[in-house]
Amino acid sequence: MSACTSSAGFRVDEVTLPSTGTLTSFATAWVPRTGLLCPYVLGQVDIGAGAMVFAHIRGLPDDAGTPVAVRLALNPNRPPDRASGSNTRSSQPNKKDHPMSENVPEAAVAEYKRGFACVDGEFVPAATASVSIFDHSFLYGDGVFETIICRGGRLFALRPHLDRLWASCQYLQITPPYDQEQITAFITELAKRNELSDGYVRVVISRGEGYPVSDPRKALKSKLVISMQGAPAVTRPPDVGVKLAIASTRRTPPICLEPRVKSNNYLNHIVAKLEAIAAGADDAIMLDLEGNVAELPVANIFARHGDTLATPPSNGILAGITRETILRLVAEGAAGPGLRVVQRVMTAYDLFTAAEVFIVGTGSGVAFVESIDGRRIGDGTMGPATKRLMDAYTELLGRDGAEPDLQLTTKEA
Ligand SMILES: Cc1ncc(COP(=O)(O)O)c(C=O)c1O
Repeated sequence: MSACTSSAGFRVDEVTLPSTGTLTSFATAWVPRTGLLCPYVLGQVDIGAGAMVFAHIRGLPDDAGTPVAVRLALNPNRPPDRASGSNTRSSQPNKKDHPMSENVPEAAVAEYKRGFACVDGEFVPAATASVSIFDHSFLYGDGVFETIICRGGRLFALRPHLDRLWASCQYLQITPPYDQEQITAFITELAKRNELSDGYVRVVISRGEGYPVSDPRKALKSKLVISMQGAPAVTRPPDVGVKLAIASTRRTPPICLEPRVKSNNYLNHIVAKLEAIAAGADDAIMLDLEGNVAELPVANIFARHGDTLATPPSNGILAGITRETILRLVAEGAAGPGLRVVQRVMTAYDLFTAAEVFIVGTGSGVAFVESIDGRRIGDGTMGPATKRLMDAYTELLGRDGAEPDLQLTTKEA
């Protein structure tokens, strides 16, 4: 292995560097740096003959001390398990080996581990925050969650999200470990520590730790985890439509698991999404047991025929907060004069024959549907009602203090 052959313009002798060394000291860096997953470890490596190099250390065990034998590599993109020493373990998966890795932006993967998380009221580095391996949410999906959008330092519809979280807890007979005011205070403090301006807040309540069986009575103390993820205001170019596929996997009916509960068990949604990915689509449309349109894995759906917008009724789906907001915006005339909205049973026919179809959700915002099962919807571009509602929704997210019940200022006044 050789490095540079000139330094500050002076010619230097070229020598072959060893490919191993001894890590003599290291520190964990929390300051984000392009291309490095934060936090990352920097260390001083003794390479013999009195020479030291300063290197990015990967795969170091959490309990590592010094000295540690390490392998040196100049290629920073080399997978960590091959670049690190034999007495170290890899802490990062090799993304390139993953069949769906091209769909995960590198920056997003790094982003969610930055900053702090809140676990039962304690503020801890997000990358090392942990819950018990005996936690019922980890073992059985026995918990609930909410994802809340933050724009310009403001949390949108915090109260409705917390109310839905409470309803989910109530249905599953989980007693929240803190009240809504305490959770709001934790979110506010965490947003301040993370300097969150644009992104998402995730609030998770698990039934808590309990083992060795799924009996909910084994878990005596519920657990709260709050995490945050920075994300730009626009993630999908507005002129790029969503390609959907109708999944054969049906949305869980209320007789199996009430779909209005936002539980930590998303396998129904994930299996449908896997089908859509296999079909070359971006996302799945899930039908109910009767074959009527229900929703997407994490979004609701609307279709326009003439001056009528339609969306499936709120029982049988997760009645999204964005969906509620859109219903209200349409009622206020934001989708255009004369346009009305109805909640009614819909089939695939209603989607294929629509002038425009769009999806709504905290993650997706308002996005137009370009095709379903390869069939173009409308003329395949964004329709006028979608455009107006997308603009109105974006404006509402950024509106300052207009609706105190819907918005919370996370920045200090
Ligand atoms: C199944 C399902 N439907 C719809 C939505 C949209 O809901 P919201 O607008 O509250 O984000 C979500 C959001 O995660 C969801 O998981």
